Amino acid sequence: MNASRRYRSIFAPSTARERAENFEDYWIFTRAHSGELIEEDRDLTHKRMRLQYFREHPVPLRRPLADAAVFYRNYVRLQDEPRLIDRKTLLLTCIYKFARHEWVGISGAWEATPCMSEAISVTDRISRYHLAEEFCHIRLFQEMFRTVGLDKVEWIPLGPIQRRVYAIFPRLPEKLMSPLAFVTELMGILFYREVDGLLDELYADEPEVRDRMRALLHEITVDELAHIGQRRNYIGAFGMKVSAWLTPLLFRAFYRDIPETRHLFDVEKMIRAGLAFDYNEIPAHLMHRTWVPSYCQ
Ligand SMILES: [Fe+2]
Ligand SMILES: [Fe+2]
Repeated sequence: MNASRRYRSIFAPSTARERAENFEDYWIFTRAHSGELIEEDRDLTHKRMRLQYFREHPVPLRRPLADAAVFYRNYVRLQDEPRLIDRKTLLLTCIYKFARHEWVGISGAWEATPCMSEAISVTDRISRYHLAEEFCHIRLFQEMFRTVGLDKVEWIPLGPIQRRVYAIFPRLPEKLMSPLAFVTELMGILFYREVDGLLDELYADEPEVRDRMRALLHEITVDELAHIGQRRNYIGAFGMKVSAWLTPLLFRAFYRDIPETRHLFDVEKMIRAGLAFDYNEIPAHLMHRTWVPSYCQ
């Protein structure tokens, strides 16, 4: 087999039995990967150690943003004409808006899922770990902002309508919730890939900062790569059709709400990449640290 085409599509078919086995396998993976759950802090021991390393070894920032006030004025809600904002700042306000949605989503879901001592099924336990990993990502995003000299970033709740949407989400019937959750993970991976690509262009003048931003982003990416497989593993043949149908709708609706994306990425290209996703383009050093369902290998 051609080494560059080692993996099959994330939409590849699977049987119920394969999926049950994959959940068991994922559960072993996720504990080895993230460590022990620290439930009261919504944190995980291995992830905490990684973050601590980054915090204790900061990289020097030689060229801070020309005008941090532009970031703080636009990060929660875009106020200025985006064409007049420099691309570095625009990428940062975009990352914040993306992460803010994640933060609101996981905060609601954390309340709605059983805690570890009450998690009986393997999928309940996986869900608790999954959410704790997402909270670690928010800390990694915060560290990205700190790396570029933005240490006053706060996580602001979304408006009441959007908050309601996210509150309903974990209570939806499994058949509907699973495709939505899967497509959301797919959207995450495609977003991180685009951000990764832009780091070279926007931080060419600051290689140390670029490498640190990338290292932080990759910490998130390895988890998210595992999450797409894990969320895909909930879904049978019909649900995968629903997921493919939902992909363009959800991508467009989500990014419509983040006006920066129009100036930074090509959302239609991201949709096509989402529907064609198969891990083969992911660098080997990330693939070594993540998890892929057996039927995608
Ligand atoms: Fe995430
Ligand atoms: Fe995720």
